[in-house]
Amino acid sequence: MPTNNTTPNDQAADANAGGCAITLNINGQDRALTVEPRVTLLDALREQLLLTGTKKGCDHGQCGACTVHINGERRLACLTLAVMQQGQKITTIEGLAEENALHPLQQAFIRHDGFQCGFCTSGQIMSAAALLREGHARTEEEIRELMSGNLCRCGAYNGIVEAITAVMEASDAALYL
Ligand code: FES
Ligand code: FES
Repeated sequence: MPTNNTTPNDQAADANAGGCAITLNINGQDRALTVEPRVTLLDALREQLLLTGTKKGCDHGQCGACTVHINGERRLACLTLAVMQQGQKITTIEGLAEENALHPLQQAFIRHDGFQCGFCTSGQIMSAAALLREGHARTEEEIRELMSGNLCRCGAYNGIVEAITAVMEASDAALYL
């Protein structure tokens, strides 16, 4: 009798069949993997490299849950092909903290209740880190506008904006961005 008990490793093995051997620089480390050309960076991160901090919400570029940094800029991993990212510097939520010290945004999200279920949180934090680096947000309204691509089904927006504002206003924030 057929079973449907496939594991992530089984799925990764399936994905490897007929794939391309590539090397991606992720969180400062070169990671070798084999992917079909159609595999998104999101699926490569989650299913092959087991970096599951990057979340799959809509898988269609509409929720922001999959936000990562590529060369410091925020990108939606669900709309990004893994094979096209060789030579790029990819950062995921797992690479944001400095050793055991949480990133100031991670600390601020905790302090300001910037999450409930937490599913959107890694994407929110990655997006916020890039937002602060971009330097275009100066007010709460601008933060809300420039974070509008990151949806939170729990409606934790007030805490999210408070957390980002707190880091933006911290005198030493630039040290961490
Ligand atoms: S999972 Fe990528 S934008 Fe929703
Ligand atoms: S904290 Fe639940 S979706 Fe944002």
